[in-house]
Amino acid sequence: MLRHVTAIRYVTPLREGGSLPGLMEADDLGTYVVKFHGAGQGRKVLVAEIVSGELARGLGLPVPELVTVELDPALGASEPDQEVQELLRASPGMNLGMDFLPGALDLDTKAFPVDPAFAGRVMWFDALVGNVDRSWRNTNMLFWHGSPYLIDHGATLTFQHAWSAAEGWVGRAYAAEDHVLLGCHPDLDAADAALAPLVTPELLRAAVDAVPDRWLADEPGFDGPDAVRAAFVAQLLARRDAREAWLPGVRAAVAARAEGAEPPDTRGRKLPFWVAEGRT
Ligand SMILES: Nc1ncnc2c1ncn2[C@@H]1O[C@H](COP(=O)(O)OP(=O)(O)O)[C@@H](O)[C@H]1O
Ligand SMILES: [Mg+2]
Repeated sequence: MLRHVTAIRYVTPLREGGSLPGLMEADDLGTYVVKFHGAGQGRKVLVAEIVSGELARGLGLPVPELVTVELDPALGASEPDQEVQELLRASPGMNLGMDFLPGALDLDTKAFPVDPAFAGRVMWFDALVGNVDRSWRNTNMLFWHGSPYLIDHGATLTFQHAWSAAEGWVGRAYAAEDHVLLGCHPDLDAADAALAPLVTPELLRAAVDAVPDRWLADEPGFDGPDAVRAAFVAQLLARRDAREAWLPGVRAAVAARAEGAEPPDTRGRKLPFWVAEGRT
């Protein structure tokens, strides 16, 4: 189970991606990036955040702590922004929070060297969970206190949006061409040797157990939350065992870049929101 905190103050919206997460203070004196169950993408995005986030953590990759956040929509009553007010009103009760890393910068591989072993493990993990949201356009990696962190796994595990077609996801190729770490000489073979044996039923079970029942309830075709959890575990074990279907494509993308395929431009220097918005 994730730690549960209660939000006490809405600080500011984060308008980086599409989901309008909010920065919130909680009763444990922590500050969290909160994703709301009432957002357009719905609760499955939160399920993906938890399963992939906790799986990454279990594989030794750095992910800020995830918590569940109790929200009283009245906290948004004085928000000037109508969109924020509506989002909070639509999200009473339990939401998902990630420990906020103050002062973190978006990871830019030209500014912060990333070592090949780490790059390989991140890319292998992203290919396993089908994360298309770690591109050079939108890195979803932060650099904080000298180290990289992985955030934003809401776009992973897309099979849960159409369980009847989930089998087709198991061997699906991973589009690695746009991955932000493609040019960091990712050592995929070392990553595969180190991580594949760690993707066990127990580790997967621990990751899905962190998802609150209410976000897995009433899934058509399933007899309750535990049946959905079991399906996630089976699905990810099958993907692990189908590596020959997706790993060679990732290897080929890495090799093409190493042989001089043109890297895309980086998106340039982007200021953190509190500087851009003059909040310093
Ligand atoms: N834990 C965190 N610490 C610091 N900044 C964060 C954190 N999580 C998210 N952010 C900032 O907020 C932005 C949006 O968060 P993200 O999880 O990527 O949501 P979205 O689904 O909207 O893309 C990120 O690009 C990053 O700049
Ligand atoms: Mg994002």
